[in-house]
Amino acid sequence: MMEAAGVWQARRVLELGPGTGALTAAIADAMPHDADCLGIELNETFVGQLRPRFPAMRFECACAQEFDFSTVLPPGEKFDAVISGLPWTAFPEELQKAILDNVLPHVATGGCFATFAYWGFHKLPSGRRFRSLLHELTHGVETSRVVWNNLPPAFVYTARKA
Ligand SMILES: C[S@@+](CC[C@H](N)C(=O)[O-])C[C@H]1O[C@@H](n2cnc3c(N)ncnc32)[C@H](O)[C@@H]1O
Repeated sequence: MMEAAGVWQARRVLELGPGTGALTAAIADAMPHDADCLGIELNETFVGQLRPRFPAMRFECACAQEFDFSTVLPPGEKFDAVISGLPWTAFPEELQKAILDNVLPHVATGGCFATFAYWGFHKLPSGRRFRSLLHELTHGVETSRVVWNNLPPAFVYTARKA
């Protein structure tokens, strides 16, 4: 996911749903030392654990569909890379769309949005809907190879902002 989203060359990274910090740790390893990273997580307990563990990153306890990104981005600045750990397949269509509609306007032109899907679940109606929405709202969606060693097996969607 880090490679797919180009985190190694990003100046501003956004993580959606950092949870217990597995992807956050990968972001911390991959991003340039002077880059900024913001995590939006609705679970207060997770946010309380993430802040001391990743003191150089910023975490806000908020819903991704409601958070006002203009309050944290300097004027004219956008995110170069978005890493999402959100469970898209479990979300109804309105929530999938509300989150993408709130986030994508704050992604830089040419910036990347990367998220993972579990193999099989992507064929459920909600999984198909999410993929269609990504296609509709971005410049194109790429699908990685399936990582069969992951439990459950998973793959990465990478979408580029037009
Ligand atoms: C699959 S889990 C996180 C996986 C994460 N990579 C980890 O290592 O724990 C999804 C996370 O998204 C958070 N979440 C769910 N809906 C959200 C929303 N609308 N806005 C922000 N965070 C959300 C959950 O609280 C949860 O921590």
